[in-house]
Amino acid sequence: TLGPDVIDVRGLTAEGVFTFDPGFMATSSCESKITFIDGDNGILLHRGYPIEQLAEKSDFLETCYLLLKGELPHAEEKQKFDSTIKNHTMVHEQLKNFLNGFRRDGHPMAIMCGVVGALSAFYHDSLDINNAQHREISAIRLIAKMPTIAAMVYKYSMGQPLMYPNNELSYSENFLHMMFNTPAEIKPIDPILARAMDRIFVLHADHEQNASTSTVRLAGSTGANPFACVAAGIAALWGPAHGGANEAVLRMLDEIGDVSNIDTFIAKAKDKDDPFKLMGFGHRVYKNFDPRAKVMKETCDEVLGLLGINDPQLELAMKLEEIALSDPYFVERNLYPNVDFYSGIILKAIGIPAELFTVIFATGRTPGWIAHWNEMISNPYKIGRPRQLYTGHTKRDYPNN
Ligand code: ACO
Repeated sequence: TLGPDVIDVRGLTAEGVFTFDPGFMATSSCESKITFIDGDNGILLHRGYPIEQLAEKSDFLETCYLLLKGELPHAEEKQKFDSTIKNHTMVHEQLKNFLNGFRRDGHPMAIMCGVVGALSAFYHDSLDINNAQHREISAIRLIAKMPTIAAMVYKYSMGQPLMYPNNELSYSENFLHMMFNTPAEIKPIDPILARAMDRIFVLHADHEQNASTSTVRLAGSTGANPFACVAAGIAALWGPAHGGANEAVLRMLDEIGDVSNIDTFIAKAKDKDDPFKLMGFGHRVYKNFDPRAKVMKETCDEVLGLLGINDPQLELAMKLEEIALSDPYFVERNLYPNVDFYSGIILKAIGIPAELFTVIFATGRTPGWIAHWNEMISNPYKIGRPRQLYTGHTKRDYPNN
C-alpha cells in the first residue's frame, strides 16, 4: 500500500503517478507565443522573426516592443515607446543611499540582485499585478532603469560619481555615456561601440524557458511582484552554467594564456574526473549551432576590425574553437560555441570589465523576463510546484533516549 511512509521509487505515490525529469529535459512548463527555438537546426525566432534579421535590422528597444506586444511597432509607435522608456531612465534618489550600503568590491551581480529587488519598495503600483496598466508601467520601468542601475553599479565599484542618464541619446549610447563619461569629461559616444552594444542586447533579449526565465515564471506564479521576480531571474542568471559563462570564458582564455596550452585544457575538459569545462561551449537546446553565436562572431570581427584592435585573445578563442570542433569528444556530444563565447571579447573591446559581463546579459534579458512574466499573468496560470522523488528514510520514531 502506498502512503506517506511507503513511497515507490518509480514516482508512484498514493496520489497517482508523476514524471521524474531532472533538469526538465523533456518537460514543458508552460505554453508561450513569444520565442521559438529549433535546437537541431539552429533556429531562433522572436514572435516569428529570425534573430539574424532582428540583429541586422532592428534595435534593442524595437525588439523589446516586439517581445512585449507581439508585433513590430509602426514608426509612430516606436517613437512613442522610445520616449516613454526615456521618461523612466532615472532611479529614485533614495536608491543611491541603498547602493552606498554595499561594499565597493562586492560582485556587481550581487548588487544588481539587491537593487532590482528593492525597486518594488519604490514603485508600489508594481504590487498590483492584476492591473494591466500597472504591469505595463513595471515593464517599462525595468527596461528603462536596468542600464542606469548597471552603470551605477560600475561607477560605484570605481569610486566615481554616478552619471545621470542623458535622454538625448539612444538606449545603448546612453548606457555607454553613463558607464564611461564623467561629470568632468563628457565625450561623444563612438557609434560603432553603441551599435555593437545594442546588438549584444538584442542577441540576449529572450531565449524562451532558460533557467533564469523559468525562475522568473516560477517566482511570478506565486503572485510575487515583477521586480522581485526579475531579481530572482538575475540570481539564476549569475551561475557559470548560464549567464556567468561570458565572464568565465574570458577568465578561461586568460588561464589558457597561449595557443600552445590549448591541448592541455582540451584534455582537462574531456577528463570526467576534472570539473573543468570549456566555458562558452555546449547548450541544453542547441545541438548543432547557436545562431546567436554566429551573429556575435561577425559582430566581434566587425568591432575589432573597425576599432583596429588586434586582440590576441580573439586569436586564441578562434584556435580553441577550431581545435575543439575537430575533436571527436566535442563533435559526438554536439558541443558548439554558444552566444557567450564571443560576447566577452566584444565587451572587453568596448571597455567593460569582466565582472560586469553578466550584468550586461541581465540588462539585455530583461525584456524577455518581463514579457514571459506578463504573458503568464495575463492568462490563467497555476502556482508552479514541482513534485519530487523522495529517496530519504521511511517514517521512523523519535528515539526515546
Ligand atoms: N566542456 C566539456 N564537456 C562538456 C561541456 C563543456 N563545456 N558541456 C557539456 N559537456 C559534456 C558533459 O560532460 C556531458 O558529457 P557525458 O555525456 O560524457 O557525461 C555531455 O557533454 C552533455 O552535457 P550536459 O552537461 O549533460 O548538457 P546540459 O544540456 O545539461 O548542459 C550546459 C548544458 C550547462 C550549457 C553545459 O554545456 C555547460 O556547462 N557549458 C559550459 C558553460 C556555458 O558555456 N554556459 C552558457 C550556456 S548558454 C547561455 O546561458 C546563454
